[in-house]
Amino acid sequence: MKPAAIVYTSNTGHTEQYARMLGRRTGLPVFDMCESAKQLTRGTPVLYLGWLHASHVKGFQSAAKCFSVCAVCGVGLCDNGTMVDEVRKATLIPAETPLFILQGGIDRTKLKGLNMLLISMLTRGLASNKKRSEQEDRMLELLKKDASYVCEENLAEIIEWYEKTEQ
Ligand SMILES: Cc1cc2nc3c(=O)[nH]c(=O)nc-3n(C[C@H](O)[C@H](O)[C@H](O)COP(=O)(O)O)c2cc1C
Repeated sequence: MKPAAIVYTSNTGHTEQYARMLGRRTGLPVFDMCESAKQLTRGTPVLYLGWLHASHVKGFQSAAKCFSVCAVCGVGLCDNGTMVDEVRKATLIPAETPLFILQGGIDRTKLKGLNMLLISMLTRGLASNKKRSEQEDRMLELLKKDASYVCEENLAEIIEWYEKTEQ
């Protein structure tokens, strides 16, 4: 089913950026999860985007209770298009719901409390791991640089899915 709206949960802004880019590309209205319940009727078909926290797409379960989720995007530190099986399992996303992983970034100026602590621990843990995979190497570089990898090109797969999907 084609989505009628885009709903997102973002902590530091990368997921919101992707949601707004997708809104411009598709012409769909975009809502933050908190305001979506007031703006959309229950069961509306939506494309849901949430940031990744411990391989879990934040807010997916709440979105699935309110709306008919046609597809999910998880925005994290990992490379674009990777970690799909792990994230699907951790978030309990049904096998028939398409899942796309988009690379976001890190902005420590916006991280607070426990989230800041966990990111510092993750950075230290990766830095001290002598047997890092290539993906973990790239993740460590990103964590050290405090960079954003948000870009239009990362949306190619989801745009292709959207264009192919029928009403
Ligand atoms: C506490 C914490 C846990 C995270 N866990 C993951 C993870 O498991 N996998 C991943 O790829 N990124 C993880 N990230 C990185 C975020 O998903 C990434 O910074 C994302 O771009 C945040 O999106 P936002 O700016 O919309 O909040 C984590 C970040 C924090 C703060």
